[in-house]
Amino acid sequence: MITPVISATGLWTPPNSVSNEELVESYNAWSDKWNAEHAADIESGAVEAKTHSSVEFIEKASGIKSRFVIDKSGVIDPELMRPSIPERPNEEISVLAEMAVKAARQALEAAGRDPKDIDAVLCAASNMQRAYPAMAVEIQDALGCDGFAFDMNVACSSATFGIQTAADYVRSGSAKSVLMVNPEICSGHLNFTDRDSHFIFGDVATAVLVEAEDIAPAKHWKILGTKLKTQFSNNIRNNFGFLNRAAPEGIGQADKLFVQEGRKVFKEVVPMVATMIGEELERLSIEPTELRRMWLHQANANMNRLISSKVLGREASDDESPTVLDTYANTSSAGSIIAFHKHSDDFAAGEKGLICSFGAGYSAGTVFVERAA
Ligand code: COA
Repeated sequence: MITPVISATGLWTPPNSVSNEELVESYNAWSDKWNAEHAADIESGAVEAKTHSSVEFIEKASGIKSRFVIDKSGVIDPELMRPSIPERPNEEISVLAEMAVKAARQALEAAGRDPKDIDAVLCAASNMQRAYPAMAVEIQDALGCDGFAFDMNVACSSATFGIQTAADYVRSGSAKSVLMVNPEICSGHLNFTDRDSHFIFGDVATAVLVEAEDIAPAKHWKILGTKLKTQFSNNIRNNFGFLNRAAPEGIGQADKLFVQEGRKVFKEVVPMVATMIGEELERLSIEPTELRRMWLHQANANMNRLISSKVLGREASDDESPTVLDTYANTSSAGSIIAFHKHSDDFAAGEKGLICSFGAGYSAGTVFVERAA
């Protein structure tokens, strides 16, 4: 069988960063205004007053200190509380495709790969900007790739599901070079007026080039094994869709944006992922001690601490389980790929690591890799 490898990765980071302080200041200003507007109902007990968010809570509960966003001004404007990203005419490249192309070009350049040699483009992300044509087809066109392209959405697990899909094409011989991109404009589906979650997400784009070993550059990552799992849960959900398009816009539309039962997610997903990693280690005959690093999904620092300690049987060091949460926040499918992209250059040939994602669905994916050369 043909061995699939990761030839290169790419990362595009938006220029604007929003600190917890800035985000909390705008949320608190918005909530004060909301309370003033609803003073009579609060007084009568019909509605509850909004309480302030806090920088200390956010950092302690999540490990997040700041996040990058496509549009900063709208997100921190108490009058708006959402990104203001102007609509573009159809003749212009769409925002989501544009950021994916930037990350993709980096990956192609790093591998010395001509776009013409790409057989397939997969756009694997949480929220596509539109229904169709597929974002991936627009990205394929902008890059000048041949072959075929399609979108896939498995929420925060989209990248590992995309890597396995790409690897399966390579294994079967139906493609030799597959470009998988994860453009995430999470600020577009985050409710900045929800104190429980307004701090969680950021925007970014990543790219992963999955290829057959025989055409890959000497410095690549052998894919040792991939495993995917899904299990239905309503604990992370976003009901936005065509069937509710006539509903009034904005605040009061809370479940048409990201909502979650954070505590339940934490409790249910940690054991599911730790068990899955353990079973995959066994199936691939890899000892936990052989794992030089785990590039885990970046949703919550405490969650990652718990998962990595269940896998290793002790607390993982920052080197063994690096975080990008502090500066990027949760970037959905892109998180584990950012961690891999930024923290993998120091690997020597033969060293092994794990890319792992988990999120809504529930969904979880593992990709065990080994550095070649
Ligand atoms: N500022 C200050 N206080 C806040 C707050 C904020 N922004 N948000 C919530 N709180 C308060 C709550 O009201 C609650 O107060 P109470 O104890 O008086 O009721 C307290 O802080 C604890 O809230 P809770 O939501 O239970 O916090 P938590 O410790 O569970 O942390 C998450 C919240 C979301 C960070 C955490 O549950 C988590 O990360 N879960 C997993 C999420 C995940 O991975 N999701 C996948 C997304 S893809």
